[in-house]
Amino acid sequence: MRDVLPEAARRWRVVEDTLRRVLAGFAYEEVHLPLLEFTELFSRGVGEATDIVAKEMYSLEDRDGTGITLRPEGTAGCARALQQAGLLFNQTQRVFYTGPMFRYERPQKGRYRQFAQIGAEVFGLAGPDVDAELLALSWNFWQALGIESQVTLELNTLGSAQSRADYRQALVDYLTPQAKTLDEDSQRRLTSNPLRILDSKSAQTREILVNAPSLPDYIDTASRDHFARLCELLEQLGIGWTHNPQLVRGLDYYTHTVFEWVTAALGAQGTICAGGRYDGLVELIGGKPTPGAGFALGLERVILLTENHGYLAEQDFSTASDVYCCVLNAVDQGWAMSIAANLRQAQPNLRVRVHAGGGKLKNQLRRADLSGASWALIIGEDEVANNQVTVKSLRDATAQRTVAISALAELLK
Ligand code: HAM
Repeated sequence: MRDVLPEAARRWRVVEDTLRRVLAGFAYEEVHLPLLEFTELFSRGVGEATDIVAKEMYSLEDRDGTGITLRPEGTAGCARALQQAGLLFNQTQRVFYTGPMFRYERPQKGRYRQFAQIGAEVFGLAGPDVDAELLALSWNFWQALGIESQVTLELNTLGSAQSRADYRQALVDYLTPQAKTLDEDSQRRLTSNPLRILDSKSAQTREILVNAPSLPDYIDTASRDHFARLCELLEQLGIGWTHNPQLVRGLDYYTHTVFEWVTAALGAQGTICAGGRYDGLVELIGGKPTPGAGFALGLERVILLTENHGYLAEQDFSTASDVYCCVLNAVDQGWAMSIAANLRQAQPNLRVRVHAGGGKLKNQLRRADLSGASWALIIGEDEVANNQVTVKSLRDATAQRTVAISALAELLK
């Protein structure tokens, strides 16, 4: 779990604001959801046998003995919230959330135990047009951040719940006779979550998988049509993708479309965003059947990528303020603070810091320099008497000058 200190938080804010602007452009609405949910929501929704539920949840007992869990992901909680508020039945919703998720994973670069996601979810719409919209939305994220050349889209369809179940059975039938030659994890998954064996990195297991039944052979016609239409729409939108028939995702709620945006620029943790359709989830957690689809991006990973390759790479985040106000005499502190207040009001983008704690001008100017400000305002007896301030450039040789308060905001613009 990481602390996000001021400079990193400034970068974070810029990325998050950019993503929020894109979401607003698609008219998605924000929801705020609890960090804690009943444990049962995840074991039912995400799936008892998934790694997330079986190995990675931070679960505890509430004071009354109820099992509660720090959310490892946002989709189940989002579905729960809208369902509980009566916002799903016979309605459509397009929402997003941001915030921390928690998983007990082995930490490394790009993988943390507390990490932040921005997730977008759509309910009540079953067609491939919504899948295409979600992909267009995420594609616009990468464009807005200047990282579109760093990411590729991997796409697959899992088919209907029935075709997935048929395929699962065929895979188990194929693997069971050779179970002993599978790697240890895959042996365990054979009974709990056989589709995840397709993700195995073990060379020996991969060799066995070469002749395994293939998921595309089990996909029903309706799902094929759904997938074909999605691909057509992506083509029209100019969004490139590769079909990855091995892509199954680690959460049980998916049906039909699944996808991941991946990058080669972050090493092992290359998936920056992932999602898909989850038409069975709402029913699974106790609501009426309601189609759904969405995705979540890992903010830390997106920020890492944006720092190295996107537009953050060219920006300077080292400064905490733009204007630093030095106050020579303690009696003028209130006057200086009100000048700063007026300046903030006139130029809301300026970051104005007023020196606190008194001291000599030389020391105050040193603080001004450390704050990264471009300008120091010097307020002494004469300035106060004449309703003026002295403006000193801290970053170049521009001569300092004394100006009327009324001209200050325009000068610093
Ligand atoms: P997920 O693939 O588990 O899907 O996570 C989505 C994204 O969160 C990942 O692609 C990755 O960028 C980021 N992420 C996951 N675990 C970590 C970690 N330990 N450290 C840093 N980043 C991480 C879901 O969570 C689904 N709820 C997505 C979804 C929404 N599907 C439909 N709607």
